Amino acid sequence: MPIVRIVELDREIEIPEGRLLLQGAMDQGVAFGFVCAGESACATCLVKVVEGLDSLPPRNSVEDFLSKAMLLETDYRLACQTPAGSAPLVLSFPSLARKS
Ligand code: FES
Repeated sequence: MPIVRIVELDREIEIPEGRLLLQGAMDQGVAFGFVCAGESACATCLVKVVEGLDSLPPRNSVEDFLSKAMLLETDYRLACQTPAGSAPLVLSFPSLARKS
């Protein structure tokens, strides 16, 4: 199970391969803001992939549409649409940074 380090919390969690990053983080008690409950409508689950981007699958069509509309760099993903891969990740959640 890949280790995922969350920069803002200085914490490591485990997210099973294939589990969406949003769900996996919530499973481990990470409470970060999101509005649309994973419906790809708000982008409040935005996450910067600091390390491990190559291990993630490409954006699905919904995430791709929203990312292009927001002019997001390729290292930003929607946690509600992105499943964990098999490699470790380092993630930065802008919504967590705003809370601290
Ligand atoms: S939770 Fe709204 S886009 Fe991900």
